[in-house]
Amino acid sequence: KTIDDLGDLRGRRVLVRSDLNVPMEGAPEAPRITDDGRIRASVPTIRELASRGARVVVVAHFGRPKGAPEAKYSLAPVAARLAEVLGAPVVFAGDTVGPEAQAAVTGLGDGDVALLENLRFNPGETSKDDAERGAFADALVALLGEDGAYVGDGFGAVHRKHASVFDVPQRVPAAVGGLVLAEVEVLRRLTVDPARPYAVVLGGSKVSDKLGVIDNLLRLMVRGDRLLIGGGMLFTFLKAQGHEVGKSLLEEDQLETARGYLARAEEAGIEILLPTDVVAATAFAADADPQVVAADAIPADRLGLDIGPASGAAFAAALADARTVFWNGPMGVFEMEPYAGGTRAVAQALADATAAGALTVVGGGDSAAAVRTLGFDEASFGHISTGGGASLEYLEGKTLPGLSALGA
Ligand code: 3PG
Repeated sequence: KTIDDLGDLRGRRVLVRSDLNVPMEGAPEAPRITDDGRIRASVPTIRELASRGARVVVVAHFGRPKGAPEAKYSLAPVAARLAEVLGAPVVFAGDTVGPEAQAAVTGLGDGDVALLENLRFNPGETSKDDAERGAFADALVALLGEDGAYVGDGFGAVHRKHASVFDVPQRVPAAVGGLVLAEVEVLRRLTVDPARPYAVVLGGSKVSDKLGVIDNLLRLMVRGDRLLIGGGMLFTFLKAQGHEVGKSLLEEDQLETARGYLARAEEAGIEILLPTDVVAATAFAADADPQVVAADAIPADRLGLDIGPASGAAFAAALADARTVFWNGPMGVFEMEPYAGGTRAVAQALADATAAGALTVVGGGDSAAAVRTLGFDEASFGHISTGGGASLEYLEGKTLPGLSALGA
């Protein structure tokens, strides 16, 4: 069901579950949102509901507080930014289902928007206990009064079996929001008969976070497709090939698994591309003497913090004729300039592939933030997903609670 199926929304309270979990820096008194991509992506659905005369009650999480209020996890700064992007006032309630939220939703007129405080200040939101989650879902639903409705639009959180994602939509008339629809449509094209050659670039720190996705990709890919590996996880693969990796990040317990993937790929004619050079430093710092070294000769006293320039060029060449490209996870510690080159090279290669007609998808909070903070234009990519874990779990072929609850 989409918003159209909810019928006339004028005067009705509509709870919208968005993902407003944006990167922030600075002290709680003076926080600064460093990438507002998720806020901007959430606005079209909110605006559409408001324009239909709904009384819009936005709910979201921020960070991972432990079921109780913590100033540094307040959504207040997000409310301010949301109002700016929306170009309309946003009433912020300093609690989620308490008196402030009650007052905020009661005060809404047709087309007005409120944002409630961080859902995760309530233990019921993330509880594994169905009854506890259900009780919190009931409290959220009670805010809506008669005739309320729900719109699931927080794509980045659809893989969480949380009260606002999974339980609320089973209690009131519910619809899928436009952001979730758009995300799913694109991700489907990555899993159902993708145009080939199909190339996937995986980065990020841990192999163990990517096991399911690599496993499923090796099933989906065919001869001639390519899997490019960078980020902290590459060192486990290098070690699995018998190379020393110095002080680099290493998951000893994943070596066997990495060897298994390399063997499976080889057998199927799927190319797994590993860096041939890396930028290695003496410590995890920008000024720790970064040097380009061969990937099979990382000195014992150094750790790799980015893929090297030759590897960046090789990755770009492997993406040049791809017709479908998915990228998740930075190639290096792009937040520090000496280790940003690999991520920049991959972002540029995706932009070039887009211009050459490929479907390119940037998945994930970190890589999406990376392309924007490195100064790339969003329009250079086919799609920038707002979901990190969610897009990976989708590619793993898992059932996502926030989609199944909406019948999507
Ligand atoms: C994300 O940042 O990937 C989403 O907002 C989900 O957050 P979570 O991993 O804390 O559930």
